[in-house]
Amino acid sequence: MTKPLDGIRIIDFTHVQADPACTQLLAWYGADVIKVERPGAGDVTRSQLRDIPGADALYFTMLNGNKRSLTLDTKTQEGKEVLGKMIKTSDMMVENFGPGVLDRMGFSWARIQELNPKMIMASVKGFSDGHSYEDLKVYENVAQCAGDAASTTGFWDGPPTVSAAALGDSNTGMHLAIGILTALMQRQKTGKGQKVSYSMQDAVLNLCRVKLRDQQRLDKIGYLEKYPQYPQYPHGTFSDVVPRGGNASGGGQPGWMLKCKGWETDPNAYIYFTIQGHAWKPITKALGKPEWATDPAYMTAEARQDKIFDIFATIEEWLKDKTKYEAVDILRKFDIPCAPVLSMKELAASPDLRKSGSIVEVDHKVRGKYLTIGSPIKFSDLEIEVGQSPVLGEHTDEVLADLGYSADDIAKLHTAKAV
Ligand SMILES: CC(C)(COP(=O)(O)OP(=O)(O)OC[C@H]1O[C@@H](n2cnc3c(N)ncnc32)[C@H](O)[C@@H]1OP(=O)(O)O)[C@@H](O)C(=O)NCCC(=O)NCCS
Repeated sequence: MTKPLDGIRIIDFTHVQADPACTQLLAWYGADVIKVERPGAGDVTRSQLRDIPGADALYFTMLNGNKRSLTLDTKTQEGKEVLGKMIKTSDMMVENFGPGVLDRMGFSWARIQELNPKMIMASVKGFSDGHSYEDLKVYENVAQCAGDAASTTGFWDGPPTVSAAALGDSNTGMHLAIGILTALMQRQKTGKGQKVSYSMQDAVLNLCRVKLRDQQRLDKIGYLEKYPQYPQYPHGTFSDVVPRGGNASGGGQPGWMLKCKGWETDPNAYIYFTIQGHAWKPITKALGKPEWATDPAYMTAEARQDKIFDIFATIEEWLKDKTKYEAVDILRKFDIPCAPVLSMKELAASPDLRKSGSIVEVDHKVRGKYLTIGSPIKFSDLEIEVGQSPVLGEHTDEVLADLGYSADDIAKLHTAKAV
């Protein structure tokens, strides 16, 4: 089957999570992604958090499927020559080294353009070019702090809290793929490549848009009515910054995390319940409180505002003898937006996710079978085959031969320890 990105060759100068997630996606969609790694070591995630001695760690295998691996020491003269040749014959380079690393290697953006004016160069850093923190090295949680997620996540009486979701890492990679494909479209029109830059701070910030909405509302009116700190609630008052809202969405529909049967022993025996304005009548029916539907003290969202936590307490009382699954099975009949809190154990075993290809089992030549997360985007005319990740240097000789190196030349590169 032909794939949308067949024929696109990508120099994958990526490591850890942000950019590997991006290039893995592009590899699933057909690009020839050549992971360039330091001989003898490779991407640090190959050996971080190993669960099988001698086998690449899941951290690596789950982010580098469908790629080829070339070992290349780009600090040697021979290595630089190979990289130069690759740049001339590739469509894209994707990198997330620390600030200044590529320049020190001798491959500044200006140099790359000289070698190949059609090159699309995608670059992730912690902060954007020219930012006063541009020299900082950044990992996931640093980005969550820099992009607002931490300041607005958690409970009002606790510290700023980071999310388990990779808002700074994989999220940046997913956004980067949009930038790369946009540059590719533009190149088809102009014939020219360009640099696509993306910072992890911006990637997190881009997901915190509604918090900027709330900051501006707070500046203007002094309170945020859908937050648990709203004056009528017993949780405190507003300062001049958007507070941590616990499990409130802070949006138009109030919601909360509610205990279900078994919560005392099962950390995930909860559902998230949303009180959607126009679903109030069905909610009162589902709860066996039909009188609330016509009671002026409960009928409107405004009237409910100061008793929202009493309402949640009533719903919890109703949930007491129901598992999270039973509760959702009842509530779905009333069209109420809600869901059980699903653990990773439950998700990994979910027949729905296996069927949709969102959780995939991969057979790896060294580690055997393992689970990974497949393409979150589904296409009507593209079948995605999630493949294994390469072992370190698996395709070195093959890639060098593709570049026109003879068997003799390749042997010399090995002797010089350039590959
Ligand atoms: C992730 C990060 C903190 C890791 O930092 P680090 O482990 O110190 O690694 P760096 O990227 O700075 O690179 C270290 C060195 O490896 C060298 N190196 C990498 N690949 C090489 C290769 N194939 N051959 C020779 N040297 C290589 C680099 O040239 C660099 O050397 P230098 O510092 O002497 O110039 C940093 O890369 C970073 O901030 N990246 C941008 C943001 C990011 O993507 N964060 C992670 C998100 S998951």
